[in-house]
Amino acid sequence: MLQAIRLFFEFISFFVKLLFLTFVFSPLKWLLPKSKKDVAGEVVLITGGGMGMGRLMAIQFAKLNASIVIWDVNKNAMDSVVAEIKSSGKNTQIFSYVVDVSKRQEVFDAAEKVRQEVGDVTILINNAGLVNGTNLLNTPDERIQLLMDVNTTSHLWTLKAFLPFMLTNNHGHIVTVASSAGFFGVNGLIDYCSSKFAAVGLNESLTMELHSKNKTGVKTTVVCPYLVKTGMFEGAASRFDWLIPPLTPEYASRRIVDSVLTDAQLLLMPRILFAFVVLKAIMPTSAYFLIADFFGVTHFMDKFVGRTGKTA
Ligand SMILES: NC(=O)c1ccc[n+]([C@@H]2O[C@H](COP(=O)([O-])OP(=O)(O)OC[C@H]3O[C@@H](n4cnc5c(N)ncnc54)[C@H](O)[C@@H]3O)[C@@H](O)[C@H]2O)c1
Repeated sequence: MLQAIRLFFEFISFFVKLLFLTFVFSPLKWLLPKSKKDVAGEVVLITGGGMGMGRLMAIQFAKLNASIVIWDVNKNAMDSVVAEIKSSGKNTQIFSYVVDVSKRQEVFDAAEKVRQEVGDVTILINNAGLVNGTNLLNTPDERIQLLMDVNTTSHLWTLKAFLPFMLTNNHGHIVTVASSAGFFGVNGLIDYCSSKFAAVGLNESLTMELHSKNKTGVKTTVVCPYLVKTGMFEGAASRFDWLIPPLTPEYASRRIVDSVLTDAQLLLMPRILFAFVVLKAIMPTSAYFLIADFFGVTHFMDKFVGRTGKTA
């Protein structure tokens, strides 16, 4: 009997807290201006920092006086980023390392080098990514394997390398750059969507684990953008590009940096994508397919050519 009473009061307390968090705390948090944390002196490591959004994030974090470490397979691209940041006149610390994040041992070796030469990483941005954009059945096995290794598995290696220090100090931030393709499956992108759904799941379980360990000082952000005009998805388009235009790399990277500064847990952009998340959850598959056909999602990859040497 006593146990039943205790359970009853526990349930009441749980229910009141649930209502408060859902209908008071979260809406207020969303409405009120968000304070931004100071990242001066933090060590920010960005994988795929040579081009696209990685490059732009490096430049923005440098302006905030963080120490920057970029990893990429493209040395020339990284050299330009380093030169650009150094020429900005600020006394920013910027380090670049040629690292193929698909290679586990290379990640661990480079992580050790960073620890010795720069210090412990406190903000990790798992951003490096690839897209094949070819029909799965016609894609060579090695391309599929590489895509999964870069887009997803590499996150596990960088976590193993950098999370322990963050846990010990209860301080840090892990950013998972996934994609809206981690929420919505798209034809012609089976391998890419698989890798991004996995990245979203990785972030969710990591966040849950940090919560369970009460490591409130280690933050996570998962980034899920729609098309960004970096060149990676050159040619891909939906029928309503005028309604939901591709994002500019400058806007997308600014929003990512802002999400880190405000400790936002999810960045799904543009916001209209939230409506599609709800629609997908509540609609029958046949109706959801109708929407996908109407919006041209099923023809999204028809004119895909991929990176054509253009860089953002
Ligand atoms: N461009 C888009 O439309 C879009 C949309 C949603 C999500 N994303 C994701 O955002 C991230 C950045 O995309 P982007 O558009 O800036 O791409 P990008 O092609 O401009 O840059 C990706 C960077 O990753 C690097 N890279 C590739 N393989 C690597 C490897 N094995 N090791 C280390 N570095 C490697 C590349 O050299 C490049 O510098 C990716 O994870 C991508 O999947 C992009």
